[in-house]
Amino acid sequence: MEVTDADWERVRVTAVEAMERAYAPYSHFPVGVAGLADDGRLVSGCNVENASYAVGLCAECGLVSDLVRTGGGLLVAVWCVDARGETLMPCGRCRQLLWEHGGPQCRIQTPEGELTIADILPQAFGAQDLTKGAP
Ligand code: THU
Repeated sequence: MEVTDADWERVRVTAVEAMERAYAPYSHFPVGVAGLADDGRLVSGCNVENASYAVGLCAECGLVSDLVRTGGGLLVAVWCVDARGETLMPCGRCRQLLWEHGGPQCRIQTPEGELTIADILPQAFGAQDLTKGAP
């Protein structure tokens, strides 16, 4: 599915709006992320921290939850932003989430331009490995 400049702009604006809702009283590092699903739906998430620091949720957790809750499907374009609205790279764990719910060809905005999830998570572990490696 082609992702137009207008689609990207909607995704970026939605990510900034999500970032403004972040609950980040411990790190003071609000994050927002938005994605375009393969049926045209826009979904989003923000980080939600916790006094038990290690159980805080990254913004991408909220994103995939929103995707699944509103009907599932695959993400085709994702944009993650920091407090200034600048493009932010998803952490390693969240790249795995995006791999599962976007697939290798999902587009992602990075500080180095538009890439695919496969570009930012090479040789990813995925569902096919469970089948291959089964006893
Ligand atoms: N964070 C995200 O929400 N997504 C990422 O991909 C990177 C990190 C959050 C987690 C924590 O609440 C804050 O940013 C600082 O690490």
